[in-house]
Amino acid sequence: MKILLASSEVHPYSKTGGLADMVGALGKALARSGHEAGIVTPLYQGIHERFPALRRMDWQFNLPLGAQPVPAELWSLEVEKGLTIYFIDQPGFYQRAGIYLENHVSYPDNAERFIFFSKCVANLARYLPWRPDVVHVNDWQAGLVPALMLHQRRGEGWGNPPPVCLTIHNLAYQGIFPAAAFTLTNLPEEFFTIEGAEFYKQLNCLKAGIAFADVITTVSPRYAREITTEEFGCGLDGLLRRRQDRLFGILNGVDHEEWNPLHDPFLKHPYSAARLAGKRKNKIELQKEMGLPVAADAPLFGTITRLAEQKGVDIQLGALEEMLSADIQFVLLGSGSVAFERGYHALSRRFPSQVAVQIGYDEGLSHRIEAGCDFYIMPSRFEPSGLNQMYSLRYGTIPIVRAVGGLDDSVIDFSQNAARANGIKFREYSARALAQAVRKALALYQQPGLLRRYRQNAMKTDFSWDQTVDEYLKIYQIAEKINSGQDWRTAGHGP
Ligand code: ADP
Ligand code: GLC
Repeated sequence: MKILLASSEVHPYSKTGGLADMVGALGKALARSGHEAGIVTPLYQGIHERFPALRRMDWQFNLPLGAQPVPAELWSLEVEKGLTIYFIDQPGFYQRAGIYLENHVSYPDNAERFIFFSKCVANLARYLPWRPDVVHVNDWQAGLVPALMLHQRRGEGWGNPPPVCLTIHNLAYQGIFPAAAFTLTNLPEEFFTIEGAEFYKQLNCLKAGIAFADVITTVSPRYAREITTEEFGCGLDGLLRRRQDRLFGILNGVDHEEWNPLHDPFLKHPYSAARLAGKRKNKIELQKEMGLPVAADAPLFGTITRLAEQKGVDIQLGALEEMLSADIQFVLLGSGSVAFERGYHALSRRFPSQVAVQIGYDEGLSHRIEAGCDFYIMPSRFEPSGLNQMYSLRYGTIPIVRAVGGLDDSVIDFSQNAARANGIKFREYSARALAQAVRKALALYQQPGLLRRYRQNAMKTDFSWDQTVDEYLKIYQIAEKINSGQDWRTAGHGP
């Protein structure tokens, strides 16, 4: 099949979180299984310098944003056979220090920036000479693409547009703007209703995507169920329930080329399930790097995260406070909310020989933390898929997770399957419950035989993209059937 993907971030060109990893890996996996994939994304500051092979294409955008025509150029990069990245070059919008924000403040023109991006995606979907069979957009930044395409089908003579699949990576970010921003879409008012893009008199880009896409996916089966409930629905659960027959959950895969402890350029000591000695050496390197006392036998816990409400930072700070009376070490790499950053700094000042905190974004260090720690803590309030717990499993670092969303779908607790257990789960959202899970981890640490079995189980858990790609291909076929008005449920593709 020929698939056009669109995402506001794509690894290795731009990244603030798992969205970039997922889209980058999906494009690669599609190409490697014999399909043709293009990924559209903005040309942010620094990409051109890091990837000099970018080629300018003979393509001029001049698309209206309300009354204002906005020009842009198109650059492309042939990554490998079957995979091309298309970069939208609009310097006024994208050549900035951040992707969505700077100094903790969102750019005031994010509506313009991403409505324009969505318009470029719809334009490419229509005019790219290789004619995609399906368009796969991600998150609110590309959420208006289905409506823009539908409008061109209804009103501008686009005879046979491909179907659109929308993937929700995080329902908490919807792209909500004042109603006036709707004029930037140049869509007729019929799209701005409570059945469509309107949300309490405001423009909601993700809601428009959910309303007009042919199929909707999210990044784990459990999260697909959760978001149809009031508790996790972020105000959109009603719409999602109405569209539940086209809502599917597919757990993200792991890019084994990027995340493989045996071939990881960021590690000094390669290791594998069969040869675990390297893991211990990486632990010592990490303790040195983070300025902690070198203590090969002290249990080392770690977290790499956006410091946001979603990630359970408040209960993690609370649990650590309690657990640091035990002989444990903890490392954190993260950035985000200033209050949370201060919280961790305060902890490291009080427990300098046990807690090391690095605020910022550091890809290499994120790999070394995955490799060097004994346990990985991820106590999210909600977690659509989560990737770090899967990277941890791959690196033999036992994840301690709250049983929600993709965390529940990817980790096996002793209580679920004693023989295959690879992590520790807790349910209640509280510091007390997390501290209890950390105590279980300490008990496990005291039993080297059992710990070794957990590690072996973890490292052989298969999150390869081969299987995930097959699931997306099935969804694309369903989208094609829906788009052409066929009854897809009788065609043997149940959700
Ligand atoms: P989310 O997308 O909600 O942030 P995920 O677990 O899906 O959560 O993915 C997070 C990704 O971002 C992982 O690849 C993780 O290693 C990376 N990451 C998050 N914070 C940092 C950081 N401060 N430095 C380096 N990588 C980070
Ligand atoms: C979002 C979610 C995260 C998921 C990622 C990639 O950022 O918060 O759970 O893994 O998208 O799909």
